[in-house]
Amino acid sequence: MALCPRRVVAALKLLGPGGERAWARQPRITGGRRPISFSAGASSIFGSGGNSRKEKLLLQDVAELIRTRACQRVVVMVGAGISTPSGVPDFRSPGSGLYSNLQQYDIPYPEAIFELEFFFHNPKPFFALAKELYPGNYRPNVTHYFFRLLHEKGLLLRLYTQNIDGLERAFQKLTVVTENFHASGIPASKLIEAHGSFASATCAVCRTPSPGEDFWADVMVDRIPRCPVCTGIVKPDIVFFGEPLPQRFLLHVIDFPMADLLLILGTSLEVEPFASLSEAVQSSVPRLLINRDLVGPLAWRPRSRDVVQLGDVVHGVEKLVELLGWTEEMQDLIQRETGKLDGQDR
Ligand code: APR
Ligand code: ZN
Repeated sequence: MALCPRRVVAALKLLGPGGERAWARQPRITGGRRPISFSAGASSIFGSGGNSRKEKLLLQDVAELIRTRACQRVVVMVGAGISTPSGVPDFRSPGSGLYSNLQQYDIPYPEAIFELEFFFHNPKPFFALAKELYPGNYRPNVTHYFFRLLHEKGLLLRLYTQNIDGLERAFQKLTVVTENFHASGIPASKLIEAHGSFASATCAVCRTPSPGEDFWADVMVDRIPRCPVCTGIVKPDIVFFGEPLPQRFLLHVIDFPMADLLLILGTSLEVEPFASLSEAVQSSVPRLLINRDLVGPLAWRPRSRDVVQLGDVVHGVEKLVELLGWTEEMQDLIQRETGKLDGQDR
């Protein structure tokens, strides 16, 4: 599908200078104007076009689109809210979010913990936080397994995550994770870790790559990881504010115009350029938000085909899975994977 140059330019802008991760609001990508051609299955829900289209879409309509494969190019955008059921704190939930619990670290303001300038001034708070977030301590929940089912059924075009906990990729302890490790998670080809991950690390001075295992050996005993080549600080490949996003993030230029369904789960849509992706699908493409609150462009610039399932993310996903008729399959998958993880822990 030829991409209009305007969209490519918009995306390059996001990723070139000024395309770094920031949370000051940046120019938003506008969704395309060309109506996307739904397969016959979809017209039963949308009517045969024109004003006979069903006005308000509901969760069961989204389930119908997925179940009948009327939508087969599902793009998913997630944030820290999908991992809170696994015990990983999110960032902005009042009281429980990470940013309300950094008092014990001596930092000027919460976000400084992810800023390079502060990191070089005092890396201790970040590494103390990294130790708390050690991905091997957490397990995927229903939401992660739902994405796995979408992938197994050939419906997942791409999963864009802001999370650094690695729960989308590794259903095993991080220590055995290599770049392409995906024994039972979402394959690397389907996953975009927009804000990086702990799976690998790099010397912040000479850029020598360092395997995740070495880095964790130091972090877990409260030692600042040092580069064996230049003794500079080794920083995990997490994208700090002001740093460029991974090149793979640029795939959004292709994925979002191609998508025929967008699922957004567990994110405040506060951070650019990730948040703007929520407007990068065609305006006729249904967008389903499963989140405690109505957030981002779905709040201040809603579209006619938006579906909003407010409340707990696991409850919302379980409702969708039930409407899809996938409950049994889901339980089997969780049982199998949990057995594997238990086997790991022995
Ligand atoms: N069920 C439903 N929604 C939930 C749940 C839950 N169990 N837990 C949290 N949420 C919602 C919160 O209400 C909030 O709207 O998920 C959202 C999480 O928002 P944030 O804490 O801002 O996390 P996120 O959107 O991932 O943050 C984006 O900000 O500081 C950076 O690096 C950080 O990548 C992160 C980025
Ligand atoms: Zn070095």
